[in-house]
Amino acid sequence: MANFKKILSLLKPHAFYYSILLMLVLASNFFKLYPPMLIRELVDFGIPSGDLNYIKKLLLFYVLLWVLRGIVVFIQWYGFEMLGQKLSMQLRLQLHDKLQRLSLSYFSKTQTGSVLAKITEDVDIIQQFACWSFLDLISNTISIIGTTYFLFRISPTLAAKTLLMLPLLFFIVYRFNKIVRPAWEAVREQMDNLTSSLQENISGVRVVKAFAREKFEIEKFKKENIDYRDKNITRARLEARYNPLMELVTAFAIIAFLFFGGLEYYAGKITMGDMLSFNMYLWEFMWPIRMLGFLINMLNRALAATPRVFEILEMKIDIEEKDDPTKISEVKGNIKFTDVSFSFADDPDNFVLQDINLEIKPGERVAIVGATGSGKTTLINLIARFHDVSQGAIYLDGVDIRDISLKQLRTNIGMVLQETFLFSTSIGDNIAFGSPQADVESVKNAAETAQISDFIDTLPHGYHTLVGERGLGLSGGQKQRVALARAILMDPKVLILDEATSSVDIETEQRIQKALEKIMEQRTTIIIAKRLSTIQNADRVIILEEGKIAEMGNHLELLALNGSYARLFAQQMERIEKTDEEVI
Ligand SMILES: Nc1ncnc2c1ncn2[C@@H]1O[C@H](COP(=O)(O)OP(=O)(O)O)[C@@H](O)[C@H]1O
Ligand SMILES: [Mg+2]
Repeated sequence: MANFKKILSLLKPHAFYYSILLMLVLASNFFKLYPPMLIRELVDFGIPSGDLNYIKKLLLFYVLLWVLRGIVVFIQWYGFEMLGQKLSMQLRLQLHDKLQRLSLSYFSKTQTGSVLAKITEDVDIIQQFACWSFLDLISNTISIIGTTYFLFRISPTLAAKTLLMLPLLFFIVYRFNKIVRPAWEAVREQMDNLTSSLQENISGVRVVKAFAREKFEIEKFKKENIDYRDKNITRARLEARYNPLMELVTAFAIIAFLFFGGLEYYAGKITMGDMLSFNMYLWEFMWPIRMLGFLINMLNRALAATPRVFEILEMKIDIEEKDDPTKISEVKGNIKFTDVSFSFADDPDNFVLQDINLEIKPGERVAIVGATGSGKTTLINLIARFHDVSQGAIYLDGVDIRDISLKQLRTNIGMVLQETFLFSTSIGDNIAFGSPQADVESVKNAAETAQISDFIDTLPHGYHTLVGERGLGLSGGQKQRVALARAILMDPKVLILDEATSSVDIETEQRIQKALEKIMEQRTTIIIAKRLSTIQNADRVIILEEGKIAEMGNHLELLALNGSYARLFAQQMERIEKTDEEVI
């Protein structure tokens, strides 16, 4: 019932349009229900009277009713479809809108394939029910009530005897509804597994090939498909049982009518016209009841799809924006952490960051160093509010970042992330992703600084060259440099590089480093890097160990401290010397 209410809530904004459609449904039912009465009139009075004019009039009226019904049905079909398309478009936009606002935590535990299935198929299923089947259901109900009325009007005794099996019919419908719903739910769930498996297989195609796991993946997909087929067959078997049962009951009703109707006719209780029209109404009565099974199917399909769609719609947005955010008139780039601790929502006792106190001055260049898993990426993610701190606060120019609009916060922070993502559009558009208004000249300048322009110039269509989905045609280092150009072009006050040059060779890294010098001058920069050579020029180096700041200072200070940094530095120097010796 709750799910049904949710479907109704989707229709609420279209209540006016929907009520017009309901009127049309009512009208088309009227035009359908009246004609048998004309037939009765024709057989009982028109034909015996021999009055040709009267007969002509009746027939004309009969034709007129069917023409009118035709027109109404035409508008009705068109209207249903219009409403359906409107509804599904609106629902898809709503879902997409919500997805844009959900935080990273949602996506880190959601399968992309499942989201895709929800936005495409489930929306369609709900739409088909809300805008077709539900109206059909209403129409059929009207039809059943209407025909029952006429059946009783023609002969109450005959109607009562013929419809004796009615409770049986409704019992079958009720039972059917009960068993077919879980079957549909199982089908929807399996569709999720199927799309997820497919999506992951395509996204991870490199890994699949690299590990020669194609056969395994084919088998896995086959298994999901077999499961999907089987679940559908189970459902179809349940449905198949229903139809012959309904046929049988229908046949009984017809036999009952012929038998008892015949008796009443011979007893002179009813006329031949009565018999004829009764027969017509009986068929009109049976059809919607038989259709009920199909409609209940559609209802169950929709009820299975509804919670899946609403799960996204009702998802709480954990990164909330203030209604009246503080506006910083000119961002300078001062970042301050006070007593910041952070744990992920699904593991609240495990603090990934603990008691972080840190102030980064505008224009300062800070490097973060630490072992894998020490919390470096998490720390910078907090600055952009990809997650909110669990304790303490982070300030940008003295304003709690939770009080600033996400737009102002994020447009002032340029990030080059550990994992780069390129969209399937031109390389130029990828660079201009954060600054769509940028002119060609600035895109080229950004590419030059990121040391990727020479490569782009060798491409057949230069900046217009399309990159494959996720930049599949580019090397890791090339992708990183495109992402770097993207951040540079945005001209942010705070530039964050999370192992942004880890995939490029040392020579290119040094060239990027040089080019970045100029860019880093006017802004706060936070660099996470593995190679200490990259960060020697940093104003300050922060050593993170298991989520805590272990050491902090510039290169020389840290060396003098003779702690983790000094140890790490010595290790790396040794390695470099060794490789140098090997080269010689
Ligand atoms: N979405 C997440 N949910 C739960 N734990 C996470 C999530 N992302 C990272 N972690 C954990 O947080 C810790 C710090 O990760 P991260 O900041 O990525 O480290 P680093 O960038 O220093 O390698 C790790 O132990 C990691 O397993
Ligand atoms: Mg990291």
